Amino acid sequence: MNDLMSQIERARSIIAAQTRLAPRIALILGSGLSELADDLDDPVVMPYAEIPGFLPTTVAGHRGELVVGMLAGQPVAVMRGRFHFYEGHSMQQVTFPVRVLHALGCTTLLTTNAAGGLHADWRVGDLMLITDHIFLPGLAGHHPLRGPNEDRLGPRFPAMVGAYDRELLALAHRAAKSLDLVLREGVYLMLSGPAFESGAELRMCRLLGADAVGMSTVPEVIVARHMGMRCMGLSLITNLALPDGPPANHQEVLDAGVVARPKIAALIRSILAHMDHTATIPTFPDRP
Ligand code: HPA
Repeated sequence: MNDLMSQIERARSIIAAQTRLAPRIALILGSGLSELADDLDDPVVMPYAEIPGFLPTTVAGHRGELVVGMLAGQPVAVMRGRFHFYEGHSMQQVTFPVRVLHALGCTTLLTTNAAGGLHADWRVGDLMLITDHIFLPGLAGHHPLRGPNEDRLGPRFPAMVGAYDRELLALAHRAAKSLDLVLREGVYLMLSGPAFESGAELRMCRLLGADAVGMSTVPEVIVARHMGMRCMGLSLITNLALPDGPPANHQEVLDAGVVARPKIAALIRSILAHMDHTATIPTFPDRP
């Protein structure tokens, strides 16, 4: 019973045994953003160490917990900290939690990350809605769907055009407007890291059409799309990644997260409050 489906089922059943709420929306919180999970009502907190297949997080600013509860009236499962390819995990390991959250009943994935902005006129603390991505590790063969396809989860050759749900993008813009927040849009380019980019690499990213660079998110979105989940991605611009600018460092990434936290929390709450999952709060039928 070592195949992917039974691994997913093992993790799903352990989570489902601890919460009555069946989450509909999966939220992945990136570097320095995990505090948002403190806002959940009736939270059930599960350390990753208790969930088979979930890995210890090794990165400062990433807590290793899954929190299930209500946020802005929606049943959510929040990943407080994610797994990165640069930590040494395979793309399949990095994306396994998305498989499990889908099996739990999540049909939507909202993901956040810290990213370097590639435009000189952007500012640290800006928010960017991801409209599309460039997956450099995937183009080089490090792809979470490489290997045998599990047809019960999704197709062998899933489309990635339009991966970021148009309705969710429109909803995010409406939410930002109602909060008087500036919300930029752009293409997120993922590199494997962990080194920040060289000047020449940053120039290349610009030439390729990217607006922000980071080390996460795209594998999770690809796996979510493989299973037909609706996806939205939000980047917090934690530093300007400019070929001639000062070098990036991880502390400024975390500091920017602290400053921008209320803004991101308000935006995510507003997006959730206007999503259409609320009519009935789903619970697991087999739970008291
Ligand atoms: N580059 C890559 N990843 C990042 C950056 C960056 O400049 N900032 C935050 N994550």
